[in-house]
Amino acid sequence: TESYETIRIERKGRTALLTLDRPKSLNALNLQVMNEIVAATADLDRDPGIGCIVLTGSPKAFAAGADIKEMRPQSYMDMYLSDWFTAWDRLGALRTPTVAAVSGYALGGGCELAMLCDILLAADTAVFGQPEIKLGVIPGIGGSQRLTRAVGKAKAMEMCLTGRTMDADEAERAGLVSRVVPAGDLVGEALAVAETVAGMSLPVAMMAKEAVSRAFETTLAEGVRFERRLFHAVFATADQKEGMAAFVEKRQPGFTHS
Ligand code: CAA
Repeated sequence: TESYETIRIERKGRTALLTLDRPKSLNALNLQVMNEIVAATADLDRDPGIGCIVLTGSPKAFAAGADIKEMRPQSYMDMYLSDWFTAWDRLGALRTPTVAAVSGYALGGGCELAMLCDILLAADTAVFGQPEIKLGVIPGIGGSQRLTRAVGKAKAMEMCLTGRTMDADEAERAGLVSRVVPAGDLVGEALAVAETVAGMSLPVAMMAKEAVSRAFETTLAEGVRFERRLFHAVFATADQKEGMAAFVEKRQPGFTHS
């Protein structure tokens, strides 16, 4: 299953590292990249041996956007009938937690790809932006929505209307990324975070992800009700018994992901 041309997959214990590998175009996201990322992550999502997936690019570019050369000749009917970019929604619908490790350019579709992930770590070299307007288009993989929810209207509106970018420190202050780390440490840090997540109970981590994700979809009252139902549900897991027993017995838990 792992004969991809535009990405590389490495498994390390319970984590998987997906590296975008189209260096000549700064990891521009053409349809092949989209389809390979979606297929590879769907495989990993089905694998109970994988508890967290890290997505990363190169030091220079996480991804410099959707592929402008591929989009340039498309007509409205081409875009509409193929439902261009819709497959990306499947990345956001994965149940396994995902970490984006961003260094260099995360522009347009690159920024949107990072925002489709659950945890976003930035190298101090990261540059985020939605510069589509400069090409005479607008974001198409959710950028106008997810950036606005992440950083608020003030910055999102300015970025989408002028194309101005944010550096890593501004992105952290604005709440777009959880942490900024030195570029050389980025992938190591991301794998460490992933290993921590993958060491938790997989079904419980899935529920935690579902609960936080629901905050983007619904009202506070409905979200709290959803969380409460999931909270009750975790008491059906073996891992709740194990986690609480381990605390009381002053030992490390051995989760069985069940
Ligand atoms: N699509 C296709 N090719 C791209 C690309 C993209 N998004 N970004 C870079 N490339 C290609 C360049 O065309 C160039 O190829 P050639 O060698 O064949 O000319 C190669 O990658 C290297 O790029 P540069 O020479 O431009 O590198 P640089 O260091 O001078 O500049 C950059 C880097 C500032 C990121 C610049 O490449 C750039 O501005 N890229 C486009 C950024 C952008 O507009 N992204 C949004 C795309 S639209 C979109 O994403 C829609 C959506 O919502 C999904």
